[in-house]
Formats: sequence, C-alpha cells, structure tokens
Amino acid sequence: MANRPDYLLFDRDTQAIFWNMHTKAIQRMLDYDYVIGRKKPSVAAIVHPTSDLKYQKFFFGTEEILIPVYRSTKEAAENHPNADVLINFASFRTAYDVTREAIDIPTIRTIVITAEGIPERLTRDMNLRARKAGKWIIGPATVGGLAAGAFRIANTGGTIENIINSKLHRPGSVGLVTRSGGLFNELCNIIARNANGIFEGVAIGGDRFPGSDFLDHLLRMEKNPDIKFMVMLGELGGTLEYKVVDAIKKGLIKKPVIAWCIGTCAKLFGSDVQFGHAGAKAGAERETADAKNAALKEAGALVPSSFDELPELIRGVYEELKAQGEIPEIKEPEVPPIPMDYAEARKKGLIRKPTNFICTISDDRGPEATYTNIPISEVIEKGYSIADIIGLLWFKKKFPKWASNFIDMVIKIVADHGPCVSGAHNARVAARAGKDLVSSLASGLLTIGPRFGGAIDGAAKYFKMAYEKGMSPKEFVDYMKRVERKPIPGIGHRVKSIRNPDKRVELLKNYAEENFPATELLNYALEVEKVTTAKKENLILNVDGCIGVLMVDMFKNLGFTSKEIDEIIDAGALNAFFVLGRSIGFIGHILDEKRLKSPLYRHPWDDVLYAIEEPEDLTDR
Ligand code: ACO
Ligand code: LMR
Repeated sequence: MANRPDYLLFDRDTQAIFWNMHTKAIQRMLDYDYVIGRKKPSVAAIVHPTSDLKYQKFFFGTEEILIPVYRSTKEAAENHPNADVLINFASFRTAYDVTREAIDIPTIRTIVITAEGIPERLTRDMNLRARKAGKWIIGPATVGGLAAGAFRIANTGGTIENIINSKLHRPGSVGLVTRSGGLFNELCNIIARNANGIFEGVAIGGDRFPGSDFLDHLLRMEKNPDIKFMVMLGELGGTLEYKVVDAIKKGLIKKPVIAWCIGTCAKLFGSDVQFGHAGAKAGAERETADAKNAALKEAGALVPSSFDELPELIRGVYEELKAQGEIPEIKEPEVPPIPMDYAEARKKGLIRKPTNFICTISDDRGPEATYTNIPISEVIEKGYSIADIIGLLWFKKKFPKWASNFIDMVIKIVADHGPCVSGAHNARVAARAGKDLVSSLASGLLTIGPRFGGAIDGAAKYFKMAYEKGMSPKEFVDYMKRVERKPIPGIGHRVKSIRNPDKRVELLKNYAEENFPATELLNYALEVEKVTTAKKENLILNVDGCIGVLMVDMFKNLGFTSKEIDEIIDAGALNAFFVLGRSIGFIGHILDEKRLKSPLYRHPWDDVLYAIEEPEDLTDR
C-alpha cells in the first residue's frame, strides 16, 4: 500500500482498480492524468468478470496504452498491490458484493461506490464492515471526488475544459465536501473564481447512509497542512451535518468551515418533499436546511444567508487568509492540450483522411444494411431471388426475369454431383479427418480449378475469343491444340458423352434457346462440340462449358460490351457461380460425414501403384 499520511486518500502516485468495463470513465481518468502530467496512469487494472480480455486499450495523451483486465478484484489486487483504491462501478445489484470482497483485500484502502439504489440494509452493513476494517468508503450514489493535480475519480469534475476552468488540474488551498456530484462541480468552479481552487474534494453521495460523511472528510482536511479552509455543502434531510456542528463546538475543527445546506426552499412546499437524493428529505424540523444552517452558524461555521452569498463569503475568507500569509502563491502549470478523438475531430470538420478501401456495393452504416442502395427489408418484401441478389452484389444490376431465372437454374444445377467428384471427395476426406465445417468446405472449394468446376471462365474466354476472331470451329480446335497446347476448357467429361449425355447441359441449352433473346456463342460452341465429339465421344460441351458460353450470351443480351464481359471473366466471376452452387453440395457431404460419425479415411495401398526408383545420385556434383 502506498506510503502517505493518514489524512491523504489520494496523491499523484495513487492507482485504482476500476471495477467494470466503463471505458469512457476510465479514459476520462487517463485524460486527466495526462493533463496534470502524471507519469503513471491512475488506473492500474480493470475488473470485468464476464470478459475474456486480458488487456483493454486506452489513450494516454496521443499514445495508446494497455490496461490489464482481470476477472476478479482479488486477482487484480494480487497483481497490483500498489493500487489502494477500488472504483466500484458495479450496478446496484452487484455493488454490495464487490464492496464486501474489496473490504477484505488488505491492499485496498478506499472504495468508491457509484451505484444508486443499494438497499439501505446492505449499505449499513457494508459501511460498518468498512469502518471496522479501517477502510474508507466514498458513496454510494456518488460521482466520487478529486485530489486536484493528483487523482480524479472517474467522471468527477466533468469535461477536461471544465476541469481546467475550475482549476482542478493543480492543487489549491481549499477542502470541499458535498453530497451531490453536480453541485461538487459548481462549487469547484466557485472556489476557483473566488479563491485559488480546491486541494481536494469529496462528494459523499446522495444515499441516506453514506459510507463516509462530512465530518470524516473535514477531520482529514483539518489535519492536512495544505488545506487552509473548508467548504461544506450539505442538504436538507438527515442529521450528518450535526456531527460537524458538534466537532466545531468541541474544537476538533479549528480551520474555517464555510457551510451551507441547500433545500431551504423546501418550506415553500406543503408536505415533506423528496429532493433527488434518497437522503434529501426532511423528516423532522431538525432535518430541514434552515435548522441545520442555523445550528452550523451557531457552532461557529461561516454560513451565508443564501446560496447566492456563498461565493462572496469564500472570497472573503480566502482574501483574509492570504493577507495573513497563510495561502501560498501558486505557479500556474502549463496544460498540454488533450488530443481530440478522431471521430469528434472528423465530425467537427477539422481533419480529413484518405480512405484505404472503396466499396461500391453495400453499406451497413445506416439503420439497415443495403445492397446497392436497396435496403434488405425491401429485398425481402419485394421477393428478390438469390439470383437477383447476385445481380445486385456481383454485377450491380437489376436483372430481368429471364436472366435471374437462368442464374437460379445454374446454381441449382451445379449444387451437387455426388460424392465421387474431386471436390466432394476432398470435403468428405477433410471432414473425416475431424476438420470443422468451414475447413472441410474450404478443402472442397480449393479443388475447384481448370479441370474441375473451374473451367467456366476458361470456356467463356476461349470460345468468345475464337468466335469474335471469326475462327471456324475446326480452326479453333486446332488452334487450342497447336498454339495454346491445352484442352479446350468446357469440353470433355470423364463420364458423360454423346451416348450418355449430361442432362444438366440439356436443361441449360433448352432454357436458353427458349428464353434468351439470342444464343450466338452457344450455337458456336455446339458446332465446336461436333468437331470434338467426332474425335472422341466424351468430348462433349460439358456443364462448365455450357454455363460459360451461356453467361457470355446472357451478358451480351443484357447490353454489356465485349470489354466489360472480358473483365467479368478475368475477375473469375463466372467460376464463382460454380463455387457458390457447389458449396451447397459440399456442405451436404460434410454434414453427411458428421452425421455418420465416419472415422478417419485412409486410402488403401492397393489403390496406389508404387513406382519408386532409387534416387538419382547427385552427391558428387
Ligand atoms: N479439348 C480438346 N481435346 C481434349 C479435351 C478438351 N477439353 N479433353 C480431352 N481431349 C482430348 C485429349 O487431347 C486426348 O486426345 P488424344 O486421344 O488425341 O490424345 C483425348 O481427348 C483424351 O484425353 P483425356 O485427358 O484422357 O480425357 P479425359 O476423359 O480424361 O478428360 C477432362 C476429361 C479432364 C474433363 C478433360 O476433358 C478436360 O480437361 N477438359 C477441360 C476441362 C474442363 O472442362 N473441366 C470441367 C469438366 S465439368 C466439371 O468439372 C463440372
Ligand atoms: C461435376 O459437376 O462435378 C461433374 O461434372 C464432374 C464429374 O467428374 O463428374
């Protein structure tokens, strides 16, 4: 635990454990640290029981720092024994348990509880335990407090601008105790304008039973040689202010105390009025603001006749102490500007930044995502098909019915072709090796290539090229054999042939002939097929080839230029139809294997021709 006098709860080395992932409040503490030139962040650790995070990023000035995150206060305290403050930002349902645990942790000295609405029975129990253990509780129902130029509890003091205007970034000579957090800020401002600012201030919170009260803090401040006078802002309800009355009378507080209890207007209302705080209700005459103000005055506190006169009174006491040489001169420190958050600066139009990505298809920034500016709800309401969505997201077009139906048909037709085709086989082998669905699917998809399923683009490219160059079908076949020296993509099938035709190809051809405005490239490809099947009966226009040429026909009919179609082919967009459709089948095969709980597949030896030779000996080279 930090080595500092009893009367000081916080100094420039104080570190806190922050219970709950309230990143904004934590960032505000760190911004304060930066402004006052602290070297060590005031938050040492965060406790977030439901998080798997090990660290959370924050800014410390312009730099980013990592603050460790723990699942329990105990673990955080063990790892950060120097952090003697627990800022308990738990909800009112959890705050009691968090506090109870912290009371028993030896390294924690001060517990700040923000939650409002903890049952009074629990609050009293928790306060009692804390007092017995010699621990400080600030709150419940409090914003916290602040040691000027040293340590800020969470959101105390408001914005950084407010903090600087109220001179909370460096110590003054005044001690402040309030109940309310809002008035705490107001008082800090008044004290900065009429005196030299606060040295330290605590908002004890609005509950009926605060864990530490006015007197506890005034007694600390009495002992603090840097604090020259105190300001106390009480309120109607409860009797805590009378403890201060007694202490002044007994001479336990000798420094000037300027005191005011708000709520003097309550008498204007007929019955007992509850003012915001749980404790702000006068149950008896003694608990009214007027009675308390009178008692304080009578005891010797400096009590103005109205809140409006409070600033003047503060100024008077300050000037007097200054004249007596009690108040030291303060050298105003330089305040580094807090870097503005990127989002805020951008909103204000102060900065601009070039983007790294361009997206022309979809947008999720609004209330609902859109596909080429069409909200998803409209896509659903208007009954867009999968093909229509492909039209929007792949090609940024609304396709006519005949084209959408064709795309739908392609996807359905290529969805599966049994377990023995190379991609399905790979997907099944991967699934049987225990791989998850995504990995097994990837294994199947990676098999799609120029020989299997991925010949659509190649077919489109070569047939289109040959047709546009005016090659006769025979010239094309010769060209591919002699110049390109490769099989014509989209021609040939291991199983299908003219005697065993591929039904899928028939379906596609029939659809196109009936529904496409024109099928120029298909007609050409069928002439090529005549040449190849004359060589060998399995050299048919296969399903990839048929899709490839029909896609070119489709785009031509839709008005795409030859160059635009080439770009689509070069991008791999036509194979994408096979990838998409066949994923359905691969997933089916993977789920089938999982359902069957099939064991690891090992290929049989007798299915491999072992043709192994001695290695060529290059060792003497
Ligand atoms: N174009 C021209 N000639 C071909 C083609 C072709 N696409 N495919 C095979 N041939 C010829 C060969 O040159 C060979 O001729 P030769 O007897 O004069 O030497 C003969 O046909 C037999 O060749 P194989 O390689 O034994 O043929 P196979 O039946 O094994 O080939 C395959 C089938 C792999 C599909 C092959 O035709 C090919 O590579 N086609 C192009 C790729 C393709 O379209 N793949 C998609 C198939 S459909 C799908 O996966 C969904
Ligand atoms: C398929 O669609 O997977 C088939 O055409 C390929 C094959 O080998 O049967």
